[in-house]
Amino acid sequence: MNTREKLLSPLVTPLFTFKNRVVMAPMSRRRSDQGIPSPSAPLYYGQRAGAGLIIAENSAVAANGLGYLNAPGIYNAAQKAAWKKVVDEVHARGGKIFVQLVHTGRIGHPLNQEGGVPLVGASSLKAEESIRTPGNEHHPMPEPEVLSTSGVKAMVDAHIQAAIAAIAIGFDGVEIHGAHGFLPEQFLHPLTNLRTDEYGGSIVNRSRFLLEIMEGVTAAIGKERTGIRLSPFAVLNDLPAYVEEAATHQYITDALQQLGILYIHLSSQPLNGLPSISTAYIREVRQRFHNLLIVAGGQTADSGEALLQADLADLVAYGKPFIGNPDLVERFRHNTPLTEADVNIFYEGGDTGYIDFPIIHPHPEASSPGVPQWLF
Ligand SMILES: Cc1cc2nc3c(=O)[nH]c(=O)nc-3n(C[C@H](O)[C@H](O)[C@H](O)COP(=O)(O)O)c2cc1C
Repeated sequence: MNTREKLLSPLVTPLFTFKNRVVMAPMSRRRSDQGIPSPSAPLYYGQRAGAGLIIAENSAVAANGLGYLNAPGIYNAAQKAAWKKVVDEVHARGGKIFVQLVHTGRIGHPLNQEGGVPLVGASSLKAEESIRTPGNEHHPMPEPEVLSTSGVKAMVDAHIQAAIAAIAIGFDGVEIHGAHGFLPEQFLHPLTNLRTDEYGGSIVNRSRFLLEIMEGVTAAIGKERTGIRLSPFAVLNDLPAYVEEAATHQYITDALQQLGILYIHLSSQPLNGLPSISTAYIREVRQRFHNLLIVAGGQTADSGEALLQADLADLVAYGKPFIGNPDLVERFRHNTPLTEADVNIFYEGGDTGYIDFPIIHPHPEASSPGVPQWLF
């Protein structure tokens, strides 16, 4: 018996057959120009189409939500056209691909955004962090402009429009980025949400922004194509732990169960030597939410298989291992040693460290017809 039997087995949902349970986690590689994914992005993602599901890197739903230098967007025609090439390439190679939709809120810098538009946030509290900007400079993140109530609704709508666009492009689904201290989490968190309108105060109010996005997106594209990433208990992007964190996430999880979305994707981070997402927490989410659960963060083939065997996950997401191992699934299958990518190429380097990692085991569809346009 292959010891990765479950990890390598298909998963069937009403809409999709995922050919294995290995998910490529969303990873910003910051090789876009003006928010337009790089001409090499189709090859990069196509090389990784052996994954049961690729979740493409976080892509901004609005110009004021891009935040990072050379990050992609999905809010204008040129960006969408570039993403379509990625989607077509992954599909030509037999893969499935969702896109992660983000609004970075107070995280970022106007210099990284089209037209230098200001950051916006739930409140005016700035993040005590600095960020890379053009010319390889680093600047402190400035104070965001506070979104008016109608401005919040416009940001909800930006997510919905981006989801509609993603499906029109051909993405199989979308993942809302509700994690890692970006705008939805800035609304959830009482430190960054000092609002007095219906989007601030109680757990219900602080969750409203995220849940309105989820309701709007599921209504627009279908719950079967909608997932969310959450990172409860992670300490990221200047958001510390807070007293009502567990209760907030219980409330959200119950609401997501009622909405019936395809999946919750839990992003675990190292925290004081332990994973921020405990096994006990996963069990609790399992009890509250009955559709698919994806777990990410520091997983190996064996630990992923163990999670699946213990029914603690339906799919397991891998981030860094996919950078240096485009053929990660086949390496898991054949127990081939993994290539460790140099962190210096994670967020910069052009094609170097992006599309040049060796493929030891091409996946079966890789040589299928449909010669991709990027070869010409
Ligand atoms: C280069 C890089 C970029 C990342 N970008 C994103 C992102 O766009 N969205 C996101 O939710 N997480 C992002 N992450 C986090 C990963 O999705 C993943 O959760 C994390 O790397 C832990 O998984 P791993 O131990 O398998 O790498 C990124 C991680 C890395 C290393």
